[in-house]
Amino acid sequence: MHCVREITKDLYWVGGNDRRITMFENIHPLKDGVSYNSYLLLDKKTVLFDTVDWTIVRQFVENVEYVLDGRTLDYLVINHMEPDHAAAIEEVLLRYPKAKVISTEKGFYLMHQFGFHIDPANQITVKEGDKQNFGKHEIVFVEAPMVHWPEAMVSFDTTNGVLFSADAFGSFKALNGAMFNDEVDFDKDWIDEARRYYTNIVGKYGPHVQHLLGKAPVDQIKFICPLHGPV
Ligand SMILES: [Fe+2]
Ligand SMILES: [Fe+2]
Repeated sequence: MHCVREITKDLYWVGGNDRRITMFENIHPLKDGVSYNSYLLLDKKTVLFDTVDWTIVRQFVENVEYVLDGRTLDYLVINHMEPDHAAAIEEVLLRYPKAKVISTEKGFYLMHQFGFHIDPANQITVKEGDKQNFGKHEIVFVEAPMVHWPEAMVSFDTTNGVLFSADAFGSFKALNGAMFNDEVDFDKDWIDEARRYYTNIVGKYGPHVQHLLGKAPVDQIKFICPLHGPV
């Protein structure tokens, strides 16, 4: 049974929530679960931004199939290789074997180390400032080393102002039907979990976050799509 949300024209959230998890990374207690966000762009080409944790892969593949509505997947962008987002890469490629995978050199290195078998002919290695056009949408890739893993990058859609920010701007806590920060009372219901996420997961890499923010075209960003928590 699919469960998806439209983010903006042609872009859909196809992630899911884990409410049974009690410890994030087996360290950080979770009382309200966590979401694993993945986003699917329907353009002339179809593009999936990151995958999900293995715990919700059944929901995820049903979501992707529903939004694709008979189309195939052309591209899979991997912004971050931590297993809560990368675990389903091989599952996606089993279902869509012709999909080309876009990631950083270190991202592919980690895929190799994790034992993922990706046809070299389907690998597109990108570096800082590289662009890829998928039809109407042009995406620019920005390296985000140590936010909070070495291979991390963020992807910015210059057509609609969507920033796929990987773990940056993420938060603990499952999404309970609401997808956008103006659908929730963020300062009342989310700020504590968002702070706790930043402090524990990303915060020790504060200088790297500051460096990334310094590169951001802040006036052009209209949506921030993180890998956890609300848009
Ligand atoms: Fe991460
Ligand atoms: Fe994460």
